[in-house]
Order: sequence, then C-alpha cells, then structure tokens
Amino acid sequence: MFESLKPAAIDPILGLMAAFREDPRDNKIDLGVGVYQDDRGRTPVMEAVKRAESKLMELEKTKSYQGIAGDAEYNSRMLALMFGDGHSILSSGRIKTLQAPGGSGALRVGAEVIKRARPEAKLWVGVPTWPNHIPLLGGAGFEIEEYPYYDMQSRQINSELMMETLRKVPAGDVVLLHGCCHNPTGADLTNAQWDEITEIALERGFIPFIDTAYQGLGDGLEEDAYGMRTMAEKLPEIVIASSCSKNFGLYRERTGSITFITQTAEQAGIVAAQAMTVARQLYSMPPAHGALLVSLILGDEQLCGDWKAELEEVRLRIKSMRTLLADSIQDNAQGMDFSHIKRQNGMFSFLGVKPEHLVRLREEFGIYIVSSTRINLAGINSSNINYLSESIKEVLK
Ligand code: LMR
Repeated sequence: MFESLKPAAIDPILGLMAAFREDPRDNKIDLGVGVYQDDRGRTPVMEAVKRAESKLMELEKTKSYQGIAGDAEYNSRMLALMFGDGHSILSSGRIKTLQAPGGSGALRVGAEVIKRARPEAKLWVGVPTWPNHIPLLGGAGFEIEEYPYYDMQSRQINSELMMETLRKVPAGDVVLLHGCCHNPTGADLTNAQWDEITEIALERGFIPFIDTAYQGLGDGLEEDAYGMRTMAEKLPEIVIASSCSKNFGLYRERTGSITFITQTAEQAGIVAAQAMTVARQLYSMPPAHGALLVSLILGDEQLCGDWKAELEEVRLRIKSMRTLLADSIQDNAQGMDFSHIKRQNGMFSFLGVKPEHLVRLREEFGIYIVSSTRINLAGINSSNINYLSESIKEVLK
C-alpha cells in the first residue's frame, strides 16, 4: 500500500533546524526556528519551571488519566493570565477553556469545532502568516482566503488594504489574527488597529480566531493581551489558541489551551462538549506535565513573580538584540535600511535580503535563516553579533 505515497515536503522551519544541527561548523548561527536562546546560545529550562518541577515531584500522586479538558486549575489560571483577573468575560459564563497539546493542538481543535459549527465558513489568513497555519487549519477542511497584512516595501503593516479587505469579509467567516509578536514579520497591530478590527468584526459579523503564542515577549504580559481583551469585551464570539511553548520555555512539553467565547452560557457548555469530542478523536487527552508546571507557577505568588521577572529578561534581551543588529548592519554597501527591525516586536523580523544572499549566508558562513528571510532575533548574542553583521554586510557587497 505505501508504494503509492510520494515523498512529502519537509516543513521549511523544522527542516532548517535539522540542517543546522548537522552543520559541523563551530561558528554556525541559528536564526531559524522560533526558540529562545540566551546570550550564551543556550535554551535553558526556566528557573521557575525547574522549581515547579521539583515541587511537582513531591506533589504528584498519580499518572492516571487527567481527562479530555485537562487540568481545571491550569485552565482557569491560563484564563486569568490571558484576560487579567477582573475581566468581565471571566464571570460571564460565556467562556470555556480546554488544555491542549501546544498552540498547534489548540489551533486544530479550534478549527475542527468551528468547522462543525459552520461548515461553510471560510478562514481568512493574513499574508504572510506562520507557514504551518495553512496546512494545520486547512487540514480541518477550511477553504482559505487571504487578507493583506505586511507590506514588504515599507516594512510595516498595510493597514489601509488590510482594513479594506476585512470590511468585505462575509458574516460568519473566520479571521485569523496574531495576538502579539507577529510570526513571521514582527509587525504587530497597534491598539488602535485592534480597536478598528473589533469594530469591523462587529459590523461584518465575522469571528476572530486569535493565535496568541508569545504573550509577554512583545511589550509585556498585560500589553500583549490588549487585542484579545478588547475583543472579548466587545464581540459575541471569539476563539483563542494560546501556547506556553515560548513564554514558559516549555516547547517540547506541548502545553497550550483553546478558548471559546460564545454568545450565551448555554452555548459555551455545548461548544466545550463538542471540543472534547474533537480532542477525543484526535489525541484523546492532552499531555499533563507542562500544564501542571504552568499551573504550579501561576498559582504560587513567589514562583509566579520569579517567572515574570525571567520572562521580562527574555523580552528585554530580544529587544536589545534588535537594536544591536539593526545598528550594526545599517551601514552596508547596498544602502539597505534595517531600521524596521528596531521598531518590531517579539522574536521575529524579516531581514529582507535576496534569496541568493540567504544561500551564501548559509553555505559560506553557516548562518541559518528561513527562506522568507525571517530571522529569530534570540539567536543573536554578544559572541556572534560581529561575525553575523560582518557576514551580512559581506553578502550585501
Ligand atoms: C516557529 O515559527 O519557528 C515556531 O513556532 C516553531 C514551529 O513549530 O514552527
């Protein structure tokens, strides 16, 4: 039977990660996959996570099944993290959250539930978006439509065209938005733009599907939640996929959640039950370990404070790498302007160089960047910045 299968294309981001690992050069630099690295190029387990793990060793009494919706405390603590303690949606009865296997698992469960609720809905994604959004969400059976997001020339959001397109989205369709730290462009919606999209969604009757995988890595934990908090206040229905991969550094533990905001409390119960049948069919139950750690951290004042401080360090380090890189390559033979890197947010920005420059950077200098020219700013550190900037300037000669 398997002889009928054709070789499948490797995911471009994960393929690059594998190629980087195999490269024997000592001075190689990984600006590919979206994983945080510290100034020594390591991806350490966060201190608060380590302490929560010790605590969990003591506290954990069983490895028995947890249930399809995961850990109830984790779910409610995640809601508090996303919305802040006093948000009106939390006491409305119109919101349900389920633990999910990472942000990707959350996205797929959300998509499957939407598909069940409204099979004819189309899914609108910004151009560009995280490349895996299309297969991951399209795999649930959606027809995908596009709205313009980033303008490669001006290196900023094409607000006018985006809003114009969103004003034409039919009622009942679903619009995918990035909560913060836009992947791959780093160009985030301003609060005013979130307000405007909220108004358009209300007017048009489309449903926002917010992917929030980087809360705390942009402008701060509270600031990064502006979009979802505003939409939750004003709109009748929203779906939110969130991830703890980046802000808790729990990548391999697959820790996320899927949240549904519905028009009535009764609908919220029905949607949660549907989501549970989706999860049961896809993976039965989410993995427990990462969520238990997150729950321990968020539920303990001391641990939570320490985690927030660590996360802030991560955020500020990435920000400082933006300035460092942009300033050190600004003076280049082609007169290319890299100041957008300083203005953008989160882990990523487009370098904006040509494909042949990327090939040279990888082959001659061991610098790994995905083909869209998206760079992970967290791959830069005080030891590799000179080599990196000199190499970029060299290929731009
Ligand atoms: C990325 O965009 O690099 C990360 O979100 C990792 C992934 O799964 O693609």
